[in-house]
Amino acid sequence: MGMRSALISATALLLVTRSDASLSPGPTFFWGAAFSAHQVEGGNDRSDWWDWEHTPGKIARGETTQTATDHYHRYPEDFDLAQSLGLNSVRLSVSWSRIEPTPGKFDEAELAHYRDVVVALRQRGIEPVIALQHFVHPRWFPKMGGWLSPESPAIFERFATQVAQALSPHVAIWITFNEPMIQIVDGFLKGDYPPAISDLNSTTIAFRHILAAHGLASRVLRRFLPPRTKQLPISGVGLALNMNEFTPAHDPGTRDGQEDLRAIAVLKHLSQWAFLTAVQNGKLEYEIPSIPALKKGFHESISIPEAAHSVDWIGVNYYSRYQIARDARNSLGIRWIIPPGGLIYASGLRDLLKQTRDRLSDPIPLVVSENGLNDAKDQLRAPFIQDHLEAVAQARRAGVDVRGYWHWSLTDNFEWDSGFAPRFGLVEVDYATQRRTVRASAWNYREYLLAHPEGPQ
Ligand code: GCO
Repeated sequence: MGMRSALISATALLLVTRSDASLSPGPTFFWGAAFSAHQVEGGNDRSDWWDWEHTPGKIARGETTQTATDHYHRYPEDFDLAQSLGLNSVRLSVSWSRIEPTPGKFDEAELAHYRDVVVALRQRGIEPVIALQHFVHPRWFPKMGGWLSPESPAIFERFATQVAQALSPHVAIWITFNEPMIQIVDGFLKGDYPPAISDLNSTTIAFRHILAAHGLASRVLRRFLPPRTKQLPISGVGLALNMNEFTPAHDPGTRDGQEDLRAIAVLKHLSQWAFLTAVQNGKLEYEIPSIPALKKGFHESISIPEAAHSVDWIGVNYYSRYQIARDARNSLGIRWIIPPGGLIYASGLRDLLKQTRDRLSDPIPLVVSENGLNDAKDQLRAPFIQDHLEAVAQARRAGVDVRGYWHWSLTDNFEWDSGFAPRFGLVEVDYATQRRTVRASAWNYREYLLAHPEGPQ
Protein backbone atom coordinates (compact mmCIF):
# COMPACT_ATOMS: atom_id res chain seq x y z
CA MET A 1 0.00 0.00 0.00
CA GLY A 2 1.52 3.40 -1.09
CA MET A 3 2.26 6.22 1.38
CA ARG A 4 -0.82 8.17 0.21
CA SER A 5 -3.26 5.35 0.72
CA ALA A 6 -1.62 4.50 4.04
CA LEU A 7 -2.18 8.12 5.14
CA ILE A 8 -5.80 8.04 3.95
CA SER A 9 -6.39 4.72 5.64
CA ALA A 10 -4.85 5.93 8.89
CA THR A 11 -6.93 9.13 8.80
CA ALA A 12 -10.08 7.17 8.10
CA LEU A 13 -9.23 4.77 10.89
CA LEU A 14 -8.72 7.72 13.27
CA LEU A 15 -12.06 9.26 12.21
CA VAL A 16 -13.96 6.03 12.61
CA THR A 17 -12.37 4.85 15.83
CA ARG A 18 -12.72 8.35 17.40
CA SER A 19 -16.41 8.21 16.52
CA ASP A 20 -16.46 4.81 18.28
CA ALA A 21 -15.04 6.36 21.42
CA SER A 22 -17.78 9.01 21.44
CA LEU A 23 -20.34 6.35 20.49
CA SER A 24 -23.65 6.94 22.21
CA PRO A 25 -25.27 3.63 23.18
CA GLY A 26 -25.57 1.84 19.86
CA PRO A 27 -28.82 0.90 18.08
CA THR A 28 -31.03 -1.75 19.68
CA PHE A 29 -32.20 -3.08 16.28
CA PHE A 30 -30.48 -3.29 12.90
CA TRP A 31 -32.46 -1.83 10.00
CA GLY A 32 -30.71 -2.67 6.77
CA ALA A 33 -30.50 -3.86 3.21
CA ALA A 34 -28.44 -6.67 1.74
CA PHE A 35 -26.54 -7.47 -1.45
CA SER A 36 -23.57 -9.61 -2.53
CA ALA A 37 -20.32 -8.73 -4.29
CA HIS A 38 -20.78 -10.74 -7.47
CA GLN A 39 -24.33 -9.56 -8.00
CA VAL A 40 -23.43 -5.85 -8.05
CA GLU A 41 -19.68 -5.16 -8.44
CA GLY A 42 -19.05 -5.96 -12.13
CA GLY A 43 -15.90 -7.41 -13.68
CA ASN A 44 -15.30 -10.25 -11.19
CA ASP A 45 -13.57 -12.20 -13.96
CA ARG A 46 -11.46 -14.58 -11.87
CA SER A 47 -14.42 -16.47 -10.40
CA ASP A 48 -16.24 -19.72 -11.08
CA TRP A 49 -19.46 -17.83 -11.62
CA TRP A 50 -17.80 -15.64 -14.30
CA ASP A 51 -17.00 -18.83 -16.23
CA TRP A 52 -20.52 -20.16 -15.57
CA GLU A 53 -22.06 -17.00 -16.98
CA HIS A 54 -19.93 -17.39 -20.10
CA THR A 55 -21.17 -20.97 -20.61
CA PRO A 56 -23.96 -20.82 -23.21
CA GLY A 57 -27.42 -21.49 -21.84
CA LYS A 58 -26.66 -20.96 -18.15
CA ILE A 59 -27.87 -17.39 -17.71
CA ALA A 60 -31.08 -15.87 -19.11
CA ARG A 61 -30.49 -13.92 -22.35
CA GLY A 62 -26.77 -14.75 -22.03
CA GLU A 63 -26.37 -11.89 -19.57
CA THR A 64 -23.12 -11.53 -17.60
CA THR A 65 -21.84 -9.46 -14.67
CA GLN A 66 -19.36 -7.62 -16.91
CA THR A 67 -20.66 -4.36 -15.42
CA ALA A 68 -23.59 -5.32 -13.16
CA THR A 69 -24.33 -2.09 -11.21
CA ASP A 70 -20.63 -1.07 -11.23
CA HIS A 71 -20.84 -1.08 -7.44
CA TYR A 72 -17.11 -1.83 -7.26
CA HIS A 73 -16.57 1.84 -8.25
CA ARG A 74 -19.92 3.37 -7.27
CA TYR A 75 -20.08 2.08 -3.68
CA PRO A 76 -19.86 5.63 -2.18
CA GLU A 77 -23.00 6.61 -4.15
CA ASP A 78 -24.81 3.43 -3.10
CA PHE A 79 -23.88 3.98 0.54
CA ASP A 80 -25.09 7.61 0.34
CA LEU A 81 -28.44 6.18 -0.80
CA ALA A 82 -28.41 3.68 2.09
CA GLN A 83 -27.76 6.56 4.48
CA SER A 84 -30.59 8.60 2.91
CA LEU A 85 -32.93 5.68 3.62
CA GLY A 86 -32.05 5.80 7.32
CA LEU A 87 -30.37 2.38 7.31
CA ASN A 88 -28.05 1.71 10.26
CA SER A 89 -26.63 -1.47 8.73
CA VAL A 90 -25.79 -2.90 5.30
CA ARG A 91 -25.07 -6.56 4.61
CA LEU A 92 -22.61 -7.25 1.78
CA SER A 93 -19.97 -9.79 0.81
CA VAL A 94 -16.34 -9.64 -0.22
CA SER A 95 -15.15 -11.33 -3.39
CA TRP A 96 -12.88 -14.29 -2.57
CA SER A 97 -11.64 -14.43 -6.17
CA ARG A 98 -10.49 -10.81 -6.13
CA ILE A 99 -8.75 -11.22 -2.76
CA GLU A 100 -7.07 -14.57 -3.52
CA PRO A 101 -6.71 -14.74 -7.33
CA THR A 102 -4.17 -17.58 -7.05
CA PRO A 103 -3.95 -20.10 -4.22
CA GLY A 104 -2.23 -18.60 -1.18
CA LYS A 105 -1.42 -15.28 -2.90
CA PHE A 106 -3.47 -12.40 -1.48
CA ASP A 107 -4.01 -9.17 -3.40
CA GLU A 108 -3.19 -6.29 -1.04
CA ALA A 109 -4.89 -3.75 -3.32
CA GLU A 110 -8.16 -5.70 -3.18
CA LEU A 111 -7.94 -6.05 0.60
CA ALA A 112 -7.38 -2.29 0.74
CA HIS A 113 -10.45 -1.81 -1.49
CA TYR A 114 -12.66 -3.73 0.93
CA ARG A 115 -11.14 -1.84 3.87
CA ASP A 116 -12.16 1.39 2.11
CA VAL A 117 -15.65 -0.07 1.58
CA VAL A 118 -16.23 -0.89 5.25
CA VAL A 119 -14.73 2.43 6.37
CA ALA A 120 -17.07 4.22 3.92
CA LEU A 121 -20.04 2.52 5.57
CA ARG A 122 -18.93 3.33 9.11
CA GLN A 123 -18.17 6.96 8.20
CA ARG A 124 -21.88 7.15 7.24
CA GLY A 125 -22.96 5.66 10.59
CA ILE A 126 -23.80 2.35 8.90
CA GLU A 127 -22.69 -0.94 10.47
CA PRO A 128 -21.21 -3.37 7.90
CA VAL A 129 -22.18 -7.06 8.00
CA ILE A 130 -19.61 -8.92 5.89
CA ALA A 131 -20.17 -12.31 4.26
CA LEU A 132 -16.95 -14.10 3.40
CA GLN A 133 -18.63 -16.27 0.75
CA HIS A 134 -21.90 -15.73 -1.14
CA PHE A 135 -22.09 -18.59 -3.71
CA VAL A 136 -18.94 -17.56 -5.65
CA HIS A 137 -15.40 -19.04 -5.54
CA PRO A 138 -12.05 -18.24 -7.17
CA ARG A 139 -11.70 -20.11 -10.47
CA TRP A 140 -8.79 -22.14 -9.08
CA PHE A 141 -10.83 -23.49 -6.14
CA PRO A 142 -13.02 -26.01 -8.03
CA LYS A 143 -9.98 -26.93 -10.13
CA MET A 144 -8.21 -28.21 -6.99
CA GLY A 145 -11.28 -30.16 -5.89
CA GLY A 146 -13.31 -27.37 -4.34
CA TRP A 147 -15.45 -28.48 -1.42
CA LEU A 148 -14.67 -32.13 -2.26
CA SER A 149 -11.04 -31.60 -1.29
CA PRO A 150 -10.04 -32.50 2.28
CA GLU A 151 -7.89 -29.35 2.12
CA SER A 152 -10.90 -27.09 1.55
CA PRO A 153 -11.67 -26.22 5.22
CA ALA A 154 -8.06 -25.14 5.84
CA ILE A 155 -7.99 -23.19 2.56
CA PHE A 156 -11.13 -21.31 3.59
CA GLU A 157 -9.68 -20.70 7.08
CA ARG A 158 -6.56 -19.17 5.45
CA PHE A 159 -8.77 -16.86 3.37
CA ALA A 160 -10.84 -15.89 6.45
CA THR A 161 -7.66 -15.01 8.33
CA GLN A 162 -6.46 -12.65 5.59
CA VAL A 163 -9.84 -10.88 5.39
CA ALA A 164 -10.27 -10.59 9.17
CA GLN A 165 -6.78 -9.12 9.56
CA ALA A 166 -7.29 -6.65 6.70
CA LEU A 167 -10.72 -5.40 7.77
CA SER A 168 -10.08 -5.32 11.51
CA PRO A 169 -11.18 -3.34 13.53
CA HIS A 170 -13.95 -2.11 11.25
CA VAL A 171 -16.04 -5.31 11.13
CA ALA A 172 -17.92 -6.56 14.19
CA ILE A 173 -20.42 -8.80 12.38
CA TRP A 174 -19.46 -11.63 10.02
CA ILE A 175 -21.26 -14.24 7.94
CA THR A 176 -19.12 -17.20 6.88
CA PHE A 177 -21.46 -18.63 4.20
CA ASN A 178 -24.62 -17.29 2.60
CA GLU A 179 -27.16 -20.09 2.17
CA PRO A 180 -24.75 -23.05 2.45
CA MET A 181 -27.56 -25.52 1.75
CA ILE A 182 -28.40 -23.84 -1.57
CA GLN A 183 -24.74 -24.23 -2.54
CA ILE A 184 -24.60 -27.86 -1.36
CA VAL A 185 -27.91 -28.98 -2.94
CA ASP A 186 -27.74 -26.90 -6.13
CA GLY A 187 -24.00 -27.35 -6.65
CA PHE A 188 -23.63 -31.04 -5.79
CA LEU A 189 -27.06 -32.77 -5.83
CA LYS A 190 -29.17 -30.95 -8.43
CA GLY A 191 -26.14 -29.72 -10.37
CA ASP A 192 -27.75 -26.49 -11.59
CA TYR A 193 -25.16 -24.21 -9.95
CA PRO A 194 -21.37 -24.50 -10.20
CA PRO A 195 -19.62 -26.93 -9.88
CA ALA A 196 -22.66 -28.62 -11.49
CA ILE A 197 -22.14 -32.03 -9.92
CA SER A 198 -25.16 -34.29 -9.42
CA ASP A 199 -24.04 -37.03 -7.04
CA LEU A 200 -25.09 -37.91 -3.51
CA ASN A 201 -21.63 -38.94 -2.30
CA SER A 202 -20.21 -35.58 -3.44
CA THR A 203 -23.10 -33.80 -1.71
CA THR A 204 -22.32 -35.45 1.63
CA ILE A 205 -18.60 -34.67 1.32
CA ALA A 206 -19.27 -31.02 0.44
CA PHE A 207 -21.72 -30.76 3.35
CA ARG A 208 -19.09 -31.98 5.84
CA HIS A 209 -16.31 -29.77 4.44
CA ILE A 210 -18.41 -26.60 4.29
CA LEU A 211 -19.51 -27.15 7.89
CA ALA A 212 -15.90 -27.68 8.97
CA ALA A 213 -14.79 -24.62 6.96
CA HIS A 214 -17.46 -22.55 8.71
CA GLY A 215 -16.24 -23.73 12.10
CA LEU A 216 -12.57 -22.99 11.42
CA ALA A 217 -13.40 -19.57 9.93
CA SER A 218 -15.63 -18.73 12.90
CA ARG A 219 -12.77 -19.37 15.33
CA VAL A 220 -10.51 -17.03 13.31
CA LEU A 221 -13.08 -14.25 12.88
CA ARG A 222 -13.86 -14.19 16.61
CA ARG A 223 -10.19 -13.43 17.31
CA PHE A 224 -10.45 -10.14 15.41
CA LEU A 225 -13.69 -8.70 16.83
CA PRO A 226 -13.41 -5.06 18.03
CA PRO A 227 -14.37 -4.10 21.63
CA ARG A 228 -17.45 -2.15 20.44
CA THR A 229 -19.32 -5.39 19.71
CA LYS A 230 -20.98 -5.01 23.12
CA GLN A 231 -22.84 -1.90 21.92
CA LEU A 232 -24.48 -3.67 18.96
CA PRO A 233 -27.76 -5.61 18.67
CA ILE A 234 -25.83 -8.58 17.26
CA SER A 235 -22.11 -9.16 16.78
CA GLY A 236 -19.64 -11.91 16.06
CA VAL A 237 -20.16 -14.75 13.60
CA GLY A 238 -23.42 -15.89 12.04
CA LEU A 239 -24.92 -17.55 8.99
CA ALA A 240 -27.63 -16.53 6.50
CA LEU A 241 -29.76 -19.68 6.15
CA ASN A 242 -32.22 -20.06 3.27
CA MET A 243 -35.62 -21.04 4.68
CA ASN A 244 -38.99 -21.64 3.04
CA GLU A 245 -42.34 -22.38 4.66
CA PHE A 246 -44.02 -25.54 3.33
CA THR A 247 -47.62 -26.67 3.55
CA PRO A 248 -49.08 -30.04 2.40
CA ALA A 249 -50.66 -30.06 -1.06
CA HIS A 250 -53.38 -32.48 0.17
CA ASP A 251 -55.76 -32.30 3.12
CA PRO A 252 -53.71 -33.29 6.19
CA GLY A 253 -56.64 -35.47 7.28
CA THR A 254 -56.07 -37.75 4.31
CA ARG A 255 -53.40 -40.41 3.68
CA ASP A 256 -51.91 -38.27 0.91
CA GLY A 257 -51.86 -35.27 3.23
CA GLN A 258 -50.04 -37.28 5.88
CA GLU A 259 -47.51 -38.40 3.26
CA ASP A 260 -47.01 -34.76 2.26
CA LEU A 261 -46.39 -33.80 5.90
CA ARG A 262 -43.80 -36.56 6.27
CA ALA A 263 -42.05 -35.33 3.13
CA ILE A 264 -42.07 -31.77 4.50
CA ALA A 265 -40.47 -32.91 7.76
CA VAL A 266 -37.62 -34.64 5.85
CA LEU A 267 -37.21 -31.67 3.47
CA LYS A 268 -37.11 -29.10 6.29
CA HIS A 269 -34.65 -31.09 8.34
CA LEU A 270 -32.31 -31.62 5.40
CA SER A 271 -32.61 -28.11 3.94
CA GLN A 272 -32.81 -26.08 7.16
CA TRP A 273 -32.42 -27.71 10.53
CA ALA A 274 -29.49 -30.09 9.98
CA PHE A 275 -27.03 -27.22 9.37
CA LEU A 276 -28.55 -25.12 12.19
CA THR A 277 -28.18 -27.98 14.67
CA ALA A 278 -24.64 -28.86 13.55
CA VAL A 279 -23.30 -25.32 14.16
CA GLN A 280 -24.56 -25.59 17.73
CA ASN A 281 -23.83 -29.15 18.83
CA GLY A 282 -21.15 -30.10 16.28
CA LYS A 283 -23.12 -33.11 15.04
CA LEU A 284 -24.30 -33.45 11.45
CA GLU A 285 -27.31 -35.76 11.23
CA TYR A 286 -29.90 -36.09 8.48
CA GLU A 287 -31.88 -38.74 6.64
CA ILE A 288 -32.67 -38.96 2.94
CA PRO A 289 -35.37 -41.64 2.46
CA SER A 290 -35.34 -43.99 -0.50
CA ILE A 291 -36.57 -41.79 -3.34
CA PRO A 292 -36.70 -42.51 -7.07
CA ALA A 293 -33.23 -40.95 -7.48
CA LEU A 294 -31.86 -42.85 -4.49
CA LYS A 295 -32.93 -46.47 -4.24
CA LYS A 296 -31.70 -47.27 -0.75
CA GLY A 297 -31.82 -43.88 0.94
CA PHE A 298 -28.99 -42.38 3.01
CA HIS A 299 -28.41 -41.67 6.70
CA GLU A 300 -25.70 -39.25 7.85
CA SER A 301 -24.50 -39.06 11.42
CA ILE A 302 -21.06 -37.59 11.91
CA SER A 303 -19.30 -35.37 14.42
CA ILE A 304 -17.86 -32.09 13.12
CA PRO A 305 -16.25 -30.73 16.31
CA GLU A 306 -14.93 -27.59 14.57
CA ALA A 307 -18.55 -26.52 14.03
CA ALA A 308 -19.73 -26.84 17.64
CA HIS A 309 -20.93 -23.56 19.19
CA SER A 310 -19.64 -21.66 16.16
CA VAL A 311 -22.38 -19.03 15.76
CA ASP A 312 -23.22 -15.95 17.82
CA TRP A 313 -26.47 -15.27 15.90
CA ILE A 314 -28.52 -16.85 13.09
CA GLY A 315 -29.91 -15.12 9.98
CA VAL A 316 -33.10 -16.32 8.29
CA ASN A 317 -33.34 -15.62 4.55
CA TYR A 318 -37.08 -15.85 3.82
CA TYR A 319 -39.04 -15.24 0.61
CA SER A 320 -41.79 -17.75 -0.07
CA ARG A 321 -44.14 -20.54 0.90
CA TYR A 322 -44.57 -23.64 -1.28
CA GLN A 323 -47.00 -26.52 -1.22
CA ILE A 324 -45.33 -29.95 -1.16
CA ALA A 325 -46.80 -33.13 -2.64
CA ARG A 326 -45.30 -36.63 -2.56
CA ASP A 327 -44.66 -37.57 -6.19
CA ALA A 328 -43.01 -40.89 -7.07
CA ARG A 329 -42.62 -39.67 -10.67
CA ASN A 330 -40.23 -36.93 -9.53
CA SER A 331 -36.58 -37.96 -8.99
CA LEU A 332 -36.53 -36.38 -5.53
CA GLY A 333 -39.88 -37.97 -4.69
CA ILE A 334 -41.68 -34.67 -4.13
CA ARG A 335 -43.21 -31.84 -6.15
CA TRP A 336 -42.89 -28.16 -5.19
CA ILE A 337 -46.16 -26.40 -6.04
CA ILE A 338 -46.82 -22.66 -6.17
CA PRO A 339 -49.84 -22.30 -3.83
CA PRO A 340 -53.13 -21.00 -5.28
CA GLY A 341 -52.60 -17.76 -3.29
CA GLY A 342 -49.07 -17.35 -4.72
CA LEU A 343 -45.59 -17.49 -3.16
CA ILE A 344 -45.94 -14.42 -0.94
CA TYR A 345 -46.90 -15.56 2.58
CA ALA A 346 -45.83 -13.18 5.32
CA SER A 347 -46.91 -15.35 8.25
CA GLY A 348 -44.41 -17.94 7.01
CA LEU A 349 -41.70 -15.59 8.30
CA ARG A 350 -43.30 -15.48 11.76
CA ASP A 351 -43.60 -19.27 11.80
CA LEU A 352 -40.02 -19.84 10.65
CA LEU A 353 -38.61 -17.42 13.24
CA LYS A 354 -40.49 -19.37 15.92
CA GLN A 355 -39.40 -22.76 14.50
CA THR A 356 -35.78 -21.56 14.37
CA ARG A 357 -35.95 -20.27 17.95
CA ASP A 358 -37.34 -23.66 19.04
CA ARG A 359 -34.24 -25.33 17.56
CA LEU A 360 -31.69 -23.16 19.31
CA SER A 361 -29.78 -24.94 22.05
CA ASP A 362 -27.31 -22.02 22.21
CA PRO A 363 -28.98 -18.82 23.57
CA ILE A 364 -28.37 -16.67 20.47
CA PRO A 365 -30.45 -13.95 18.74
CA LEU A 366 -32.01 -14.13 15.29
CA VAL A 367 -32.15 -11.66 12.41
CA VAL A 368 -33.99 -11.62 9.11
CA SER A 369 -30.90 -11.58 6.91
CA GLU A 370 -32.86 -11.46 3.61
CA ASN A 371 -36.47 -10.77 2.66
CA GLY A 372 -37.72 -9.19 -0.55
CA LEU A 373 -39.43 -9.68 -3.88
CA ASN A 374 -39.03 -9.18 -7.60
CA ASP A 375 -41.24 -6.15 -8.25
CA ALA A 376 -40.02 -3.92 -11.09
CA LYS A 377 -43.12 -1.71 -10.96
CA ASP A 378 -42.86 -1.35 -7.16
CA GLN A 379 -46.56 -2.12 -6.82
CA LEU A 380 -46.25 -4.85 -4.18
CA ARG A 381 -43.05 -3.98 -2.27
CA ALA A 382 -44.53 -1.50 0.25
CA PRO A 383 -47.30 -3.84 1.48
CA PHE A 384 -44.87 -6.78 1.24
CA ILE A 385 -42.45 -5.04 3.62
CA GLN A 386 -45.26 -3.90 5.91
CA ASP A 387 -46.74 -7.42 6.15
CA HIS A 388 -43.36 -9.08 6.75
CA LEU A 389 -42.40 -6.55 9.42
CA GLU A 390 -45.72 -7.27 11.11
CA ALA A 391 -44.79 -10.97 10.97
CA VAL A 392 -41.48 -10.12 12.69
CA ALA A 393 -43.41 -8.09 15.29
CA GLN A 394 -45.69 -11.09 15.95
CA ALA A 395 -42.65 -13.35 16.40
CA ARG A 396 -41.07 -10.84 18.80
CA ARG A 397 -44.35 -10.56 20.74
CA ALA A 398 -44.24 -14.37 20.98
CA GLY A 399 -40.82 -14.06 22.64
CA VAL A 400 -38.50 -14.64 19.66
CA ASP A 401 -35.34 -12.53 20.09
CA VAL A 402 -35.18 -10.90 16.62
CA ARG A 403 -32.67 -8.05 16.40
CA GLY A 404 -32.41 -7.09 12.74
CA TYR A 405 -34.04 -6.97 9.30
CA TRP A 406 -32.03 -6.66 6.06
CA HIS A 407 -34.25 -6.12 3.02
CA TRP A 408 -33.08 -7.85 -0.18
CA SER A 409 -31.90 -5.73 -1.88
CA LEU A 410 -30.41 -2.24 -1.67
CA THR A 411 -30.29 -1.90 -5.48
CA ASP A 412 -31.44 -4.02 -8.40
CA ASN A 413 -28.77 -6.59 -9.21
CA PHE A 414 -27.78 -9.83 -11.00
CA GLU A 415 -30.24 -12.55 -9.99
CA TRP A 416 -27.98 -15.51 -10.84
CA ASP A 417 -29.41 -17.72 -13.60
CA SER A 418 -32.29 -15.26 -14.13
CA GLY A 419 -29.89 -12.49 -15.08
CA PHE A 420 -30.84 -8.83 -14.55
CA ALA A 421 -34.58 -9.00 -15.35
CA PRO A 422 -35.74 -9.58 -11.75
CA ARG A 423 -35.87 -6.29 -9.84
CA PHE A 424 -35.37 -6.71 -6.06
CA GLY A 425 -33.96 -3.26 -5.30
CA LEU A 426 -35.21 -0.61 -2.93
CA VAL A 427 -33.30 1.44 -5.50
CA GLU A 428 -33.94 0.98 -9.22
CA VAL A 429 -30.89 0.77 -11.52
CA ASP A 430 -31.06 1.81 -15.17
CA TYR A 431 -28.39 -0.56 -16.51
CA ALA A 432 -27.94 1.50 -19.68
CA THR A 433 -26.88 4.60 -17.74
CA GLN A 434 -26.19 3.22 -14.22
CA ARG A 435 -28.58 5.86 -12.93
CA ARG A 436 -30.00 5.04 -9.50
CA THR A 437 -33.60 6.00 -8.59
CA VAL A 438 -35.02 5.36 -5.12
CA ARG A 439 -38.33 3.51 -5.41
CA ALA A 440 -41.42 4.85 -3.55
CA SER A 441 -41.55 1.72 -1.37
CA ALA A 442 -38.07 2.54 -0.07
CA TRP A 443 -39.33 5.81 1.41
CA ASN A 444 -42.17 3.83 3.09
CA TYR A 445 -39.53 1.49 4.56
CA ARG A 446 -37.57 4.53 5.77
CA GLU A 447 -40.67 6.02 7.40
CA TYR A 448 -41.37 2.75 9.25
CA LEU A 449 -37.82 2.13 10.48
CA LEU A 450 -37.38 5.72 11.69
CA ALA A 451 -40.66 5.38 13.61
CA HIS A 452 -39.55 2.03 15.08
CA PRO A 453 -35.85 2.41 16.07
CA GLU A 454 -36.21 -0.46 18.54
CA GLY A 455 -37.57 -2.76 15.80
CA PRO A 456 -41.04 -3.99 14.69
CA GLN A 457 -43.46 -3.86 17.61
C1 GCO B 1 -30.35 -16.19 -2.57
C2 GCO B 1 -29.29 -15.23 -2.41
C3 GCO B 1 -29.48 -13.92 -3.11
C4 GCO B 1 -30.65 -13.82 -4.09
C5 GCO B 1 -31.90 -13.37 -3.37
C6 GCO B 1 -33.07 -13.19 -4.33
O1 GCO B 1 -31.12 -16.37 -1.63
O2 GCO B 1 -30.36 -16.81 -3.62
O3 GCO B 1 -28.97 -14.98 -1.06
O4 GCO B 1 -28.25 -13.84 -3.77
O5 GCO B 1 -30.33 -12.89 -5.09
O6 GCO B 1 -32.26 -14.33 -2.43
O7 GCO B 1 -33.43 -14.41 -4.88
